[in-house]
Amino acid sequence: MMSEENKDVISNIEKPPLDSRIGRDPPFVFGQRFLTEEEDVFNHNAWDNVEWDDEQIEQFQVNIEKQKENPVCDFQKGEFNSKPKKYWDLFYKSNKENFFKDRKWLQIEFPSIFECTKKDAGEKTILEIGCGAGNTMYPILSKNENSKLRVFGCDYSDVAVDLVRSNENFEKLHASKNAYSSVWDLANEEGKIPEDLEENSVDIAVMVFIFSALNPNQWKQAIKNLQKVLKPGGLILFRDYGRYDLAQIRFKKNRLLDDNFYVRGDGTRVYFFTEEELREIFCEQGGFIEERIGSDKRLLVNRKKQLKMYRCWLQAVFKVPN
Ligand SMILES: C[S@@+](CC[C@H](N)C(=O)[O-])C[C@H]1O[C@@H](n2cnc3c(N)ncnc32)[C@H](O)[C@@H]1O
Repeated sequence: MMSEENKDVISNIEKPPLDSRIGRDPPFVFGQRFLTEEEDVFNHNAWDNVEWDDEQIEQFQVNIEKQKENPVCDFQKGEFNSKPKKYWDLFYKSNKENFFKDRKWLQIEFPSIFECTKKDAGEKTILEIGCGAGNTMYPILSKNENSKLRVFGCDYSDVAVDLVRSNENFEKLHASKNAYSSVWDLANEEGKIPEDLEENSVDIAVMVFIFSALNPNQWKQAIKNLQKVLKPGGLILFRDYGRYDLAQIRFKKNRLLDDNFYVRGDGTRVYFFTEEELREIFCEQGGFIEERIGSDKRLLVNRKKQLKMYRCWLQAVFKVPN
């Protein structure tokens, strides 16, 4: 039986396919259903680009203050922070059937990925970090017409990497040098880079809901390792949880590990970022150039229960200086 929080991980990762937006909507626009009259709120299931008013922000902060009254105890904190991989292994062991869904939104939000799949795009290398079961890697490969494209899917969970490799298409794609998958810890302190990959060879690093799984004290090392794999002019495509997302606000007792950093019921960790933090981590400290940072804020409505749920994801593109 999947816990509510596990369902949340999956539903956040797996946004519904948005086929109708492909070729029509520009990236970082995030949908166009705007709530202009408050009384209309329960007329639809979701609204896009919702701004929070002061009252809502105050309510979010009240919830967060309450979480601070009952943080995770030091003993358990040590366990979750010292063995994070173990919990992702368990996650993939119990949720494997929930993966392998297509992700059409990638084509809208990160068109540069699909530029690499064009027939004449030439030698290109995409590295998906924290690839899980390959939910981004395989949609890219399924569109690929470029024989010189290499897609590396890396994750520090060997169970996840086994799932990637057990895909019926992996062997063939690996034989044709289009697909690679290996165990790799983005934040490894030895500065190792993924198997079969050369230093400074990556055109595009895709990070979808992976950076939030790191402890803030690992960010610096992760950035160093990213610098080592990316080539000059290379891109980082980022999507992850934003501050005050519903998933953060609804955490109850004994889940808070540190400021804005939590452990879910299944033992996996999650951080909630602000745009300013991303700027600081990737640009001011990391030396990458900000191409774009945007917040995808939505209001989801349960019309039956008259409930309002605020979601917030951050999306960004960073570039390595030439
Ligand atoms: C929320 S899941 C997202 C999976 C995938 N990116 C997706 O969107 O379906 C986070 C993934 O990051 C992986 N992960 C967490 N910390 C990692 C690290 N330090 N290095 C590599 N992978 C990591 C986990 O094993 C997990 O597969």
